[in-house]
Amino acid sequence: MIIAVDGPSGSGKSSTARGVATRLGLRYLDTGATYRAVTWSALEHGLDLDDTEAVAQRSRELRLEVSTDPGKQFVIADGVDVTSAIREPRISESVSKIATNLDVRKELVRRQREIIDDAQPTGGIVVEGRDIATVVATDAELKVHLTADQDARLARRGAELTAGAVTAEQLRDQIVRRDADDATVSQFLVASDGAVTVDSTHLSLEEVVDVISRLAKEAEAAP
Ligand code: DC
Repeated sequence: MIIAVDGPSGSGKSSTARGVATRLGLRYLDTGATYRAVTWSALEHGLDLDDTEAVAQRSRELRLEVSTDPGKQFVIADGVDVTSAIREPRISESVSKIATNLDVRKELVRRQREIIDDAQPTGGIVVEGRDIATVVATDAELKVHLTADQDARLARRGAELTAGAVTAEQLRDQIVRRDADDATVSQFLVASDGAVTVDSTHLSLEEVVDVISRLAKEAEAAP
């Protein structure tokens, strides 16, 4: 079972995909983390991010371990735990240069498919990204395109800030992420045949997880 969850950042994609995986007892893959890990490594090696060949080479050489446990996420790059480092604003500011490098995409899609294949004997996986239904796992049993309108995304951020759930630094990172995202999404977020659009604007996280879990059960039962 493969459940693809595509959509822009700020749509609640990560929490949703992790929630569905936990609810259904499936593995979970955050493909954005792989692009972030390559960005971290390229910066660590002092590479010019515009040198597409050098960056692509780095992506091929990088030893990368990405956790698929929805309850315990971590990313290890060349033996270093970069789980927190890849969420820093400096990574978010540069990641779109990495995500628009076609040779890097080729390498990371190959690795993502390996992780997805490895998860199949355990029952399946929820894969989150931008091109999962269209490129990475076109044979996914369920393809979800998650959206939320701009006002809802801003309101959620404001509420999180007021409630102290996020710091100003995290908020800045989210905004930087959106900008970096916009630079890549327009190129890679293509509507997929057979994808179900779920609009989370008026739904709580719990409700979105309910909707997608129900769709997954229906997809699994379908002949
Ligand atoms: O979801 P995120 O913010 O961690 O994604 C980081 C960047 O990687 C963002 O610019 C979008 C890009 N990305 C992509 O191009 N394809 C994916 N499958 C996942 C993320």
